Amino acid sequence: MFSALKLWVVMLVVSVAFAVDIQVPETPASGGMTTITWTTDPSFTQPFSIELVHPDFNNAFAIANNVKASLGTLNVSLPTVAPGDGYTLEFVNITNINQKYGTSPSFSIAAAPSTTASSTATSPGTSGTAPSVSAASAE
Ligand SMILES: *[C@@H]1O[C@H](CO)[C@@H](O)[C@H](O)[C@H]1NC(C)=O
Ligand SMILES: *[C@@H]1O[C@H](CO)[C@@H](O)[C@H](O)[C@H]1NC(C)=O
Repeated sequence: MFSALKLWVVMLVVSVAFAVDIQVPETPASGGMTTITWTTDPSFTQPFSIELVHPDFNNAFAIANNVKASLGTLNVSLPTVAPGDGYTLEFVNITNINQKYGTSPSFSIAAAPSTTASSTATSPGTSGTAPSVSAASAE
């Protein structure tokens, strides 16, 4: 009986869907800055976390925490990920990532811009794992 009540509560929470509409970020690149924009129902006032999700990940990347819904836009830096499509952004409960407020349409992430030109931390000698940026397919 207790678990039945719990299930009912879970179903109730899921059915109270918030209207969150997440736009696809513009020209997202691996490790680069991108602008995320969204619109929400005025009644949606919960802070949320933003996760970057791909079917190939075991976990989601948290890219922003405790975001105010009223902002409507946020500049974030993306993690270094394999370029490709099928990425989505999810807005989730800050303490329970399984509670999703909204999911963006899927989009693709480009390879990091000028990986060879930039003089960022390429430690000489000891780096064992080189990121395979060369595997990027055009479009
Ligand atoms: C976010 O980035 C865009 C484009 O670079 C810029 O125009 C905008 O002012 C930035 N917004 C904030 C809040 O920093
Ligand atoms: C977020 O999750 C926590 C823990 O499950 C819960 O107590 C809280 O009510 C949730 N927040 C919203 C806005 O649903």
